Amino acid sequence: MGRPPRRNLRMGQRDMPITILIGAQWGDEGKGRVVDWLAASADIVARYAGGDNAGHTVALDGQVYKLHLIPSGILHSDVVSIMGNGMVVNPVNLVREIDVLRKLGLRISPERLVISSRAHIITPAHIALDEAKEMALGAAKIGTTLRGIGPAYLDKTGRAGIRTGDMLLDVEEFAERLVASMEATNEDLRSQGLQTLDARAAAQSYLDAADILRPYIRDVSIYLYEALKAGKRVLCEGAQGTLLDIDHGSYPFVTSSSPTAGGALTGLGVGPLFVERVLGVAKAFSTRVGGGPMPTELDGDIAERLRGSGANFWDEFGTTTGRPRRCGWLDVVMLRYAVGVNGLSELMLTKMDILSGLDELKLATAYMIDGERFEYPPVTNEQLERAIPIYESMPGWSEDISNCREFGDLPKAARHYIERVAQLCDAPIEMVSVGPERDQIVMKTTRPRVAAPR
Ligand code: IMP
Repeated sequence: MGRPPRRNLRMGQRDMPITILIGAQWGDEGKGRVVDWLAASADIVARYAGGDNAGHTVALDGQVYKLHLIPSGILHSDVVSIMGNGMVVNPVNLVREIDVLRKLGLRISPERLVISSRAHIITPAHIALDEAKEMALGAAKIGTTLRGIGPAYLDKTGRAGIRTGDMLLDVEEFAERLVASMEATNEDLRSQGLQTLDARAAAQSYLDAADILRPYIRDVSIYLYEALKAGKRVLCEGAQGTLLDIDHGSYPFVTSSSPTAGGALTGLGVGPLFVERVLGVAKAFSTRVGGGPMPTELDGDIAERLRGSGANFWDEFGTTTGRPRRCGWLDVVMLRYAVGVNGLSELMLTKMDILSGLDELKLATAYMIDGERFEYPPVTNEQLERAIPIYESMPGWSEDISNCREFGDLPKAARHYIERVAQLCDAPIEMVSVGPERDQIVMKTTRPRVAAPR
């Protein structure tokens, strides 16, 4: 794939120091472990969208870290983690997450964690409204994580939200804003005949959280601009995935933010000319949690096999909700789309080891919908529900690949699978993961790097 010519941004040798990492499917691609791995060569890891609907799991020396709001960079002591303005933050849950990580031995201070003053706050009323909306939809529900994500973004775009920067206000003023916001949501709940919240009582835990979080809050865009000018390397950590994007996903079965590459720019307030790489992470098969069409979904033995029993943390059960994920063959039509809408410079496949032992593997290379062939997903969910995948069959492999570290170590059938996916998506694949631990990564050529080398 041709690379665009480099621009001289007058930043010494480290021009274009941003790498954006995004999920190329419906979330749960294993981004957390990839971010953790790449963070070793970054100065800053910045999350730009979503909230604690995300669940990034990283295994490190036998310890499993579950991150919902804090970027996976926090596992590296010399990396600054940033929570961007594109996020929606539940301050009470954030304080809880900080406490859990501290108990596991991580050092978390305002020098290591920076929270944007322009992110929006999720209140208990948003959570109640999320539940109420899902209940009202009945069988047509989105299957949200019930974390209040949609209602919080609704208040943001409706210009009625409360921002993290409001925690820097006088306590009384912040309390008044919180109560007023919750009372406004109470109106919605009341109109649906649902139980309302005691806004004043609910506000107290937020005031306590604000006391703790205040020193972490600052203007993230300016912080990043100064850091980029000083030659720091920034890894933008996507949450959810391309097909859950509010604009580019299978609307309305999407989240309410922009997990795609464009979201990193608005969700952090950085300019596009700083970006060097856009890396897409995809699982070697497909999973989806929640409602909405999934053309390659399987049931029966193979689905069970891909999902796992739930005994291991890497089995296909939601990190945030515990729900079993829907599983199916790799959908290359969706991946091809993700390559396009994110302008991916490369793809990485995770969980290749899970495919070991399957005699036959299938790739959905196109769909047939009402007699017409589609290389990219159709716009409407109605069409997508009728999509019949056209499968290409390939031989599987029986070897345990979890100890492979170079492409040459992989069985021929595994290499063929990877090469075929790359060819069908028109994106290079130079890294795959073969297990949950930090070092279980197979590289094709050189060691990975985050943007410009040191
Ligand atoms: P919400 O983000 O909680 O509003 O949920 C909207 C849709 O996005 C639902 O189908 C969720 O299952 C899905 N979703 C949200 N966050 C994640 C995630 O981190 N991984 C996978 N699916 C997610």
